[in-house]
Amino acid sequence: MGSSSVLLFSTAIRRLEGKVSLITGGASGIGESTARLFAKHGAKVIIADIQDDFGHSVTKDINDSSSACASYVHCDVTKEEDVENAVNTAISKYGRLDIMFNNAGITGVNKTNILDLNKSEFDQVINVNLAGAFLGTKHASRVMIPACRGGSIITTASVSGCVAGLASHAYTASKHAVVGLTRSTAVELGGYGIRVNCVSPYVVATPLAKKFYELDDEGMSRFYSNANLKGATLEPQDVAEAALYLASDESKYMSGHNLVVDGGFTMKERRVAPKSEPRSAAPLDGPGAGAGTPVARTASPAVRVALGAGASAATPLTGITGVAPPTGTTSGPAAMTALRVAATKRRARTIFFISIVDE
Ligand SMILES: NC(=O)c1ccc[n+]([C@@H]2O[C@H](COP(=O)([O-])OP(=O)(O)OC[C@H]3O[C@@H](n4cnc5c(N)ncnc54)[C@H](O)[C@@H]3O)[C@@H](O)[C@H]2O)c1
Repeated sequence: MGSSSVLLFSTAIRRLEGKVSLITGGASGIGESTARLFAKHGAKVIIADIQDDFGHSVTKDINDSSSACASYVHCDVTKEEDVENAVNTAISKYGRLDIMFNNAGITGVNKTNILDLNKSEFDQVINVNLAGAFLGTKHASRVMIPACRGGSIITTASVSGCVAGLASHAYTASKHAVVGLTRSTAVELGGYGIRVNCVSPYVVATPLAKKFYELDDEGMSRFYSNANLKGATLEPQDVAEAALYLASDESKYMSGHNLVVDGGFTMKERRVAPKSEPRSAAPLDGPGAGAGTPVARTASPAVRVALGAGASAATPLTGITGVAPPTGTTSGPAAMTALRVAATKRRARTIFFISIVDE
C-alpha cells in the first residue's frame, strides 16, 4: 500500500477530523464515552460539566492517550451564562463550533406517584434535561448561523421520550419534550444548513441509571436478559457510536431525526394482562423475582396509584406483595403512609421490569 493510500485510509477512519465539538455532561457515562470517541476521530473536544474533578481527569486522560485535543470548562447547563461561556470557549480556542452535544441529564427523585412529586422536583429535571438542551441549541446556533458552515446539534433523549411508564413523570416529560425541541429547531435551523437530531438510548449502566434503580452492574445486567435483543448489552460506547454518526458527514442529510438505540425495545408490543388475571407487583424475572404473588391491592387511592392497574379498594393493606406494614401496625394512617412509601419505592425500582415482562 502506497503512502497516499495509507493517508486516505487513516483520514477515512477519523470521521470528525478538523471539527470542534462541545459535549455537556461529558465528565461521565455516555458523555465521557462520546468525548473519547470524538477525540479518537480527530475532533477537538470541549467537555462541559459540573463535576470538575471528573471532567479534568477525563480531559487529561484523553490528552495523555493520543494526539487528541481536549479541554474542560465548568458549565451548569441550567445557567445561560455558563452555556454561553462554554460555547464562547470553543470560539476563542478554536475559532469555530461544528458539533454541539446536549447530553447532560438527571433522573431526579425516584417517585412515580404524581401526588408525591413536588413542583420543585419536577422543575429541577425539566431545567437540566429540557432547558439545558434548549440553551445548548440556542447558543450553538448563535455561533453556527453566522459562520455559514452548517453544523450538527445532537441531544440525548431516551426511550422515555418515545414511551411512558418507565421513569418518573418529570423525566418522561423532559425526554418527550427534547424530541419536540429537536424537531422544532430542525425545521428552523435547516435553513442555515444546521442539522438537529437526537439519540434515544435504552437503559445503560452509567452512574445515573445505577443510582436511579439502586442497582449494581450485576443488577443492571438483568435489563438485558429481559430486553428485546437477546445476547446484547447496551453500553455507553454504543450510544457514542450513534452520536458519532449524527455528528459526522455520513449523516449529512439527516435532520429532525430521533435515533433510537434500544435493540427494538420500543417496537415490542407489551400485552396487558386480562382484567380478570391478577397482576404481579413484583418483577417476574428481574431483581426480586420469585416474590411475585398476587398483586397489590389496597384501600388507599394513593397506594393504588403507586402500584398501578389491578389494585382495588376492596383488598386489605396486608395484601400488598412484598411490602410489610410497620411493626405493631396493620391499619390506620401510619400503616397507610409507610406502605405507600415502601410500595412507591418498590414499584419505582421494578416498574421497568414489569413493563418488560408484563405479557
Ligand atoms: N443511562 C441510561 O440508562 C440513560 C438512558 C437514556 C438516556 N440517558 C440520558 O443520557 C444522558 C447522559 O446520562 P448518563 O447515563 O451518561 O449519566 P451520567 O450521570 O453518567 O452522566 C450525566 C452527566 O451530566 C452531568 N450533569 C448533570 N447535571 C448537569 C448540569 N446541570 N450541568 C452540566 N452537567 C450536568 C453530570 O455531572 C454527569 O457527568 C442523560 O441525558 C440521560 O438522561 C441515559
